[in-house]
Amino acid sequence: MTEQAPEPAEKSAETPAQRFGETSAQKRAGAPGRTSAGVSAQESAGVSAQESAGAPGQESAEVSARASAVRPFLYVVVCAAGVAEGVGALIAAARERGWEVGVIATPLAMNGFFDSAAVQTLTGRPVRSAWRTPADPRPFPPPDAVAVAPATFNTINKWAAGIADTLAAATLCEAHGLGVPVVALPCVADALAVHPAYRDSLARLRAMGVRFGDPHTGDQPQDGGRPAFAWERALDLLDAFPPGPRPRPASVIRYDRPS
Ligand SMILES: Cc1cc2nc3c(=O)[nH]c(=O)nc-3n(C[C@H](O)[C@H](O)[C@H](O)COP(=O)(O)O)c2cc1C
Repeated sequence: MTEQAPEPAEKSAETPAQRFGETSAQKRAGAPGRTSAGVSAQESAGVSAQESAGAPGQESAEVSARASAVRPFLYVVVCAAGVAEGVGALIAAARERGWEVGVIATPLAMNGFFDSAAVQTLTGRPVRSAWRTPADPRPFPPPDAVAVAPATFNTINKWAAGIADTLAAATLCEAHGLGVPVVALPCVADALAVHPAYRDSLARLRAMGVRFGDPHTGDQPQDGGRPAFAWERALDLLDAFPPGPRPRPASVIRYDRPS
């Protein structure tokens, strides 16, 4: 696969919390009335309901101090590629670097491509794959960043085309509008990567600000093992995003009136 020029990536000495600034949990701590996330900032920060009820509408110093200890939240989107079995390496490395992690897998990836029970143990959260019902709270806070690893041919093309028929694809489509950093580690065979639609998808996603890891074909080596997949590259790519708030696409869409 030759379509992708390597992205620059440098390791940052800062923690993700320093680099990415106010986390989604802290934003919610600053706006106690908001319910956009299922896990409240106080819950994430370990603040009890009684404590937070003591000062409704106010950001106490205690809440603020505890919220500042909240790690930024990384969504790891896992697609149905053979290398997905190693996704625990990314989760462990992300947690070491200061991220809280929630995994969203495509429905096919849930079909034996990785050990979802082990991932649940690693993240401390259920693996998401389907939409919640309207009555259920949101299981994850909003993302501070998104990493797609491994990213399949299928999901990359759907994402670029704006097809949101799985929770994973919809999450990727929405990430653009949220203005959060998004990185992807493709695992795509050369025979698929030369398809013009894939080339167009990469160009479109790059123009949306997505940063890609080096090409990986997922080919089985002759010794029968799996080739090394550069999981931590996703975290290096996130480190290489400029710090501070990212510009968000225009939030107001004007639809034409029917004539
Ligand atoms: C064992 C196995 C390994 C696969 N590995 C890859 C892969 O590395 N890359 C890829 O794009 N598709 C791979 N596929 C095909 C995808 O699973 C298939 O295209 C699927 O539709 C992807 O769905 P998703 O993008 O929703 O996860 C593999 C399929 C199987 C059965």
